[in-house]
Amino acid sequence: MGRLPFSSQLFAIFSALIAEKAGIHYDAGERELLGDKLSARALEAGFDSLLDYYYYLRYDPEGAVEIDALIDALVVGETYFFRELPQLEVTIAEVVAPRVAAGQRPRIWSAACASGEEPLTIAMLLAERGLLDRVEIVASDISVRALARARAGVFGPRSLRSNAPPPAFAGRWLTVTPDRVAVSAELQRAITWRRVNLLDAAGIASLGQFDVIVCRNVLIYFHDNTARWVIGNLSGALAVGGFLLVGVSESLLRLGTALACEERGGVFLYRRTA
Ligand SMILES: C[S@@+](CC[C@H](N)C(=O)[O-])C[C@H]1O[C@@H](n2cnc3c(N)ncnc32)[C@H](O)[C@@H]1O
Repeated sequence: MGRLPFSSQLFAIFSALIAEKAGIHYDAGERELLGDKLSARALEAGFDSLLDYYYYLRYDPEGAVEIDALIDALVVGETYFFRELPQLEVTIAEVVAPRVAAGQRPRIWSAACASGEEPLTIAMLLAERGLLDRVEIVASDISVRALARARAGVFGPRSLRSNAPPPAFAGRWLTVTPDRVAVSAELQRAITWRRVNLLDAAGIASLGQFDVIVCRNVLIYFHDNTARWVIGNLSGALAVGGFLLVGVSESLLRLGTALACEERGGVFLYRRTA
């Protein structure tokens, strides 16, 4: 069967449901794109009407499981090793290493880590400084499928698609063959993988407080009000004096935040001051 009919009324109720469950925002201009993805997922789940599929998701006791599968089909899991590396290097040199030197055990959270290349890059940077076992790393995403890839520790060649060549130390931690990139077991062991929805304030509070939260290239998928809610959740999970990192193309200043924007070594970090 081809694509299922997707009216503007269906667009309205589905986009509201998706925003409510995962925060992801679709503009009216993205109706075709959403219709294609929903259609494919609904057909795969055995539905031949998107309205029936909607009622199932919203009201059936089994709907929650299918919502997770739908979210997996909708999220953009774009990520790769060494992405926006200077921001991570500066944070480790200027925030994490001094805290270890002062006898603390800093906690770092890579929130919305997709298939895990970001926390694994953080783990490599720490290992290079001999700090890996003196720091706690938690990594999470909403996507069950992305987390399964992260836990497996084996990636495709596109996981190295950064514009810049990989740093010299990469070879110590990654085994690269033409069709795959495997991560050393030592790095994998250092990361605690969790499923966390950034909209879920209680779930986030249960993780405890962090010295550094890395939440990059995800706020762009949210409506401003949702992004503000998520920033509030993340700010609450930062210890006083802790830092939040967002993607280089994202800015919290436009949204308004109680965190203080600081420039360090040419990169921007947001600090919880009180
Ligand atoms: C483009 S990736 C960014 C990955 C990584 N942070 C990076 O910068 O390379 C965005 C990730 O956000 C996740 N995401 C989207 N909505 C989410 C939510 N409500 N809670 C947690 N993760 C979410 C997606 O599953 C996806 O893996």
